[in-house]
Formats: sequence, structure tokens, C-alpha cells
Amino acid sequence: MSYRKAFIVSNALLLGVFIWAFAKDFLAPWRPYQAKYYEMAGEVLDKQAASEKDPKKAADLKAAAYKVRHSPMEIKQIIVGDLGRFDRCVTCHVGMDEYTNPTLKNGFKENPYKSHPKVDEALVKAHPFTKFGCTGCHSGQGLATSVEAAHGWVKHWEKPMLKGVHIQGSCVKCHGNFETLKGAETAAKGKKLFNQHGCQGCHMISGFGGTTSVALDDIADKPFERIAGYNFKRVRIDGKELPDEHHDSHWNIQNWILGHLTNDPAEVTPNDPFAHLNAEPIPPSGMPDFRSELSREDADAIVAYLSGQTKEEQIPYRYHVPGPPAKDPALSGLAHGRYVFQKYGCAGCHGIDAKLGRRRINAMGPGQEEYDEKMPEAQLFANMNKGAEPTLPDLMGTYKAAELITKIENGVPAADAKKWNPKGPLPMVTMPAWKGKISKHELDDLAAWLLSIAKKDDSGF
Ligand code: HEC
Ligand code: HEC
Ligand code: HEC
Ligand code: HEC
Ligand code: HEC
Repeated sequence: MSYRKAFIVSNALLLGVFIWAFAKDFLAPWRPYQAKYYEMAGEVLDKQAASEKDPKKAADLKAAAYKVRHSPMEIKQIIVGDLGRFDRCVTCHVGMDEYTNPTLKNGFKENPYKSHPKVDEALVKAHPFTKFGCTGCHSGQGLATSVEAAHGWVKHWEKPMLKGVHIQGSCVKCHGNFETLKGAETAAKGKKLFNQHGCQGCHMISGFGGTTSVALDDIADKPFERIAGYNFKRVRIDGKELPDEHHDSHWNIQNWILGHLTNDPAEVTPNDPFAHLNAEPIPPSGMPDFRSELSREDADAIVAYLSGQTKEEQIPYRYHVPGPPAKDPALSGLAHGRYVFQKYGCAGCHGIDAKLGRRRINAMGPGQEEYDEKMPEAQLFANMNKGAEPTLPDLMGTYKAAELITKIENGVPAADAKKWNPKGPLPMVTMPAWKGKISKHELDDLAAWLLSIAKKDDSGF
């Protein structure tokens, strides 16, 4: 090929690339939003000009309107290097860009044009967008410039935008003081419910809690590939299946947590209790069914709290707001004993104030039929499902304080459990050993409280 020919060919190629780049940019999904924003902002100024009496001011307003309408179309981004964020959200949410709209206020009613809620409150004042960006609170995909991708509702994006009250999980990440923080009330309620209902009896957070199941202090980081398997198809929210299209916008960690509270976990994770697929029977999820105790709102509050449990996002020191050190309330005697029961998550298995024996699949429990191996599996399972942990008030009458303390300190080994179906799985939920975990003083008050709630029989003892 002669030089001349090569020159022509490469020029043609260059032109092609140029046209392609130009078209791609021209058709970019963010353009119509930005263009419309400038158009709307121009209209506002034109209206002001029309009603302005002073001709000089009117002319200035008209000029300003012209200038806004002819603003350069560009990708705008907020760089927050030390939070590892490059947020282009303001490319479409132009009213939230301090350079384009220094007051951060406008009268527009629709997204992405309107201004940020609470611009005059700490939510915006204490977190200037130029320093905090957007995704630190909202999650989503900062670099993306199309709606679905930016909001994180696309395949392989692990941090979709937090919807509704779940956004309060972000406050938990930075604010050690979130329990008393204005704007984080739902997450604070979530933490309270988590402790009241005894979730920490089975799940550790920040090194505190039981080990029956996984620790939840990095639950917000759990990769989709480890949750979005076949079990997700069984999750129902408000009684409905999650839509299968755009999986990734629905099969996310928030819905996985919610799914554990708005379903019977044993139905979400049924495993293999009759050993159809495995050599040994594997019991379904040992997590209790909380539907009768937690409303949908309660469940969302817990999701908000847990959405802030991350280890992956390293929040630098200057973005972290310390909270007061955890402190036990000043209680004594029986009130303190009751508090100790709650503090260690005994309620997770024995119910709030020890009023329930929660489910313990394939243990003995109230209302079970006589075992008969010829029963159909559904009937066998229904009986296994009635297995329960003991309701403590029924048993306390037989204890003295010292024996009770020994029992609590030693726990009960799994192998000691009596199975309803001898061929079924060993009940997976067992009484943990608390030795060394609960202080002597706490144990004394706990035992005294447990003895005080012993059910008296009819004769008055
Ligand atoms: C390509 C344009 C575009 C980009 C980029 C964009 N958004 Fe949006 N955003 C929209 C539009 C359009 C809506 C309104 C329609 C909707 O909710 O899908 C919206 C709505 C929202 C809402 C309200 C959602 C609701 O359900 O009420 C939030 C919050 C939001 N965006 C945050 C963000 C954040 C955070 C980013 C950056 C990670 C971002 N957006 C990037 C176009 C965009
Ligand atoms: C300090 C945390 C925080 C930061 C930073 C933040 N937001 Fe928000 N944003 C919130 C909260 C909380 C809400 C819900 C407020 C409410 O409705 O009470 C919200 C609401 C919104 C909405 C919904 C408005 C509506 O009512 O439909 C949009 C859109 C939005 N933010 C976009 C952004 C964009 C874009 C940025 C970055 C320029 C940003 N946010 C930065 C916390 C934050
Ligand atoms: C990336 C970390 C970060 C996130 C996320 C965050 N904040 Fe903050 N917040 C801060 C820092 C840093 C300050 C400044 C503290 C200071 O000046 O002493 C602050 C200050 C505040 C203040 C005013 C001071 C105070 O303690 O009363 C409020 C209120 C507040 N944040 C609420 C929220 C709420 C609500 C959310 C969740 C929607 C949130 N923050 C999310 C880091 C964060
Ligand atoms: C009796 C023990 C027990 C109690 C109490 C309990 N869970 Fe669980 N939980 C489990 C077990 C076992 C699993 C694992 C099987 C499964 O996914 O269902 C689990 C799984 C989970 C998961 C999914 C974890 C993951 O990594 O996929 C979440 C989220 C969860 N529990 C939240 C809670 C909350 C919130 C509470 C309190 C309302 C609670 N749990 C109370 C035993 C318990
Ligand atoms: C992970 C679930 C779980 C947690 C958390 C738990 N227990 Fe238990 N507990 C059990 C089970 C299961 C049994 C029955 C064991 C057996 O007999 O096989 C039991 C038995 C007991 C018993 C003996 C009752 C009897 O049979 O006489 C006492 C007392 C007791 N628990 C107190 C507590 C206290 C106090 C706490 C909190 C410090 C606590 N439990 C936390 C599951 C739990």
C-alpha cells in the first residue's frame, strides 16, 4: 500500500471513530435530562424578566436566561477521593450541583430536576455534596450516566440505590451516634428491635452475640452470587414473588434480609430434611419465623439498621462520627435480671421475656402427634416443625438458683436433644454455653429474674 493510500484509509477510519464518538455522546442518556433542566431554569428566569418593572433588571434576567439555555452540555462529577467516590449523579440531578445551582434550591417538582430534600437542614448542611458526594448515602453506581445503571439496577452492580427508609443504613456506617441522630430514627428503631427480639442470640454483631448462625457485621457486603441462588425464588415480599425480570434490581441484599423477616426462613431455606439429595438429612433454616412479632415496618427498620453493617467500605477517620461507648442502663435486682436476658439475646430462642419456646425443628414440642414412620412426608414435616425450645416459666419451678446458673453456664450439647423423628436431622438450634460470657453479677440477677417468672401451679406453688 502506498503512503498516500494508507493516509486516505487512516483518515477515513479516524472520521468514522469521530462520527461514532459524536453520535454516542449526542445520544447519551443523560443529555435530555440536562437539556431539559437548562430549559426549565431558563423558563423561570424568563418569567421573572416578564414580570420585572425595572427595564435594566429585566434585561439582566433575560441575559441570564439566555446564558442558562446555552450552558455547555457536559458530564458533571463530584470527586471525593478519600471516600473512593466519583459521583456523576449531578449530570442529571443538575439542581443538586453546587456549581450550576449554588443555592441548591429550585421550585421543580420532579426527579431528576428538583432540589434535594431538606436543603436547609443538617442532612445537606452538615454533609456538603462537594465533600460527601451522593453514593456515600444513596449507594448506586457513581460513574454511570444512564438512569438504570446509575441507580445500580443492573447486573453485577452490588450496591443498588437504597430505597425509602433503607437509606438510613448509610447513617449507621459513619455515625457511631446514630441511635440518637436526627434523621436516623428508623435505623435506631431497627437496632432496638434487633436486640429486643434476640437476633443477637444467634447472630454476632461487632463481636457481641451468639454463634448459632453467621455474624451479621458485614451482611451489607454479602456478594449476590452467594445469595441470589435458587433460594431467592422462594422469597415473598408483601405476599408477592419478586419479579423475575431485572433480577438484579430485586435480588439484592435488602430484599434478602427482608425475605428472612417477611417469610418463614425455613421455607426460604428448606435444605434437605429427608435426605433426598444428601447422605444425611440437613435441617431447614433454624431461624425462627418472626412474622407474628414483626410488622412489615419493623422489618424495614431492621433492614435499615443491617444495611449499615459493612466492613468493605472503609470510612476514613474524619468522616466517622464517634458515639458514646455502649453502656448498660443503671438497673438492679429483677429489672436488671430481665435486662440481662434481653442483652444476650436469650429472647431469640426463648421469646421476649421468656414467654415463648421458639421453633426448633425436629425437637419435641407441644401438639405433636405420635411418631409413625409410615406418615407421608408432609405430615412428618408438619410435626417436626412443631418442635420447640422450652418455655422457661414452665420449668423454673424445679430449679434452685445455683443449678440454674450451672445450666446456663454449661448449655446443653446438641447430641442431648431428643428427636421427634428419629430418622430426621438433629435439631440445629441448641442451648449455647454462656460460661465466661456473662459476668457473675449478671448471672445472679438473671437467675433471680428467671426464678421469679416461674409458672405457679393451681395449688399456688
Ligand atoms: C441519566 C440520568 C440520571 C443519573 C445519572 C442519575 N439519576 Fe437519579 N433519577 C433520574 C430520573 C429520571 C429519576 C426519576 C425517575 C426514577 O425514579 O427512575 C431519578 C430519581 C432518583 C431518585 C428518587 C428515586 C425514587 O424512587 O423516588 C433518587 C434518590 C436518585 N435518582 C438518586 C440518584 C443518585 C444517587 C445518582 C448517582 C449515583 C443518580 N440518581 C443518577 C435520573 C438520573
Ligand atoms: C448525608 C446523606 C445524603 C447525601 C450526601 C445525599 N443524599 Fe440524597 N437523600 C438523602 C436522604 C436521607 C433522602 C431522603 C430524604 C427524605 O425524603 O426525607 C434523600 C433524598 C434524595 C432524593 C429523592 C428526592 C425526592 O424526594 O424524590 C434524590 C433524587 C437524592 N436524594 C439525590 C441525591 C444526589 C444526586 C446527591 C449528591 C449530589 C445526594 N442525594 C446526596 C441523603 C443524602
Ligand atoms: C460518609 C459519612 C457520613 C454519612 C454516610 C452520614 N453522615 Fe452525617 N455526618 C458525618 C460527618 C463527618 C458529620 C460532621 C460531624 C461534625 O461536624 O461534628 C455529620 C453530621 C451530621 C449531622 C449534624 C451533627 C449531629 O451529629 O447532629 C446530622 C444530623 C447528620 N450528620 C445526620 C446524618 C444522617 C441522617 C445520615 C444518613 C441519612 C448521615 N448523617 C449520613 C458523616 C456522615
Ligand atoms: C435461633 C437462631 C436465630 C435467631 C434468633 C435469628 N436467626 Fe437469623 N439466621 C439463623 C440461621 C440458622 C440462619 C442461616 C440460614 C438462613 O439463611 O435462613 C439465619 C440467617 C439470617 C440472615 C441471612 C444471613 C446471610 O448471610 O445470608 C439474616 C439477614 C438474618 N438471619 C437475620 C436475623 C434477624 C434480623 C433476626 C432477629 C429478628 C434473626 N436473624 C434471628 C438463625 C437465627
Ligand atoms: C440459640 C438458641 C438459644 C439461646 C440464644 C438461648 N437458649 Fe436456652 N435453650 C435453648 C434450647 C434449644 C434449650 C433446650 C435444650 C435441651 O434441653 O435440649 C434451652 C434450654 C435452656 C434452659 C434449660 C431449661 C430446661 O430444660 O430445664 C435454660 C434455663 C435456658 N435455656 C436459659 C437461657 C438463657 C438465660 C439464655 C440467655 C443467656 C438462653 N437460654 C439462650 C436454646 C437457646
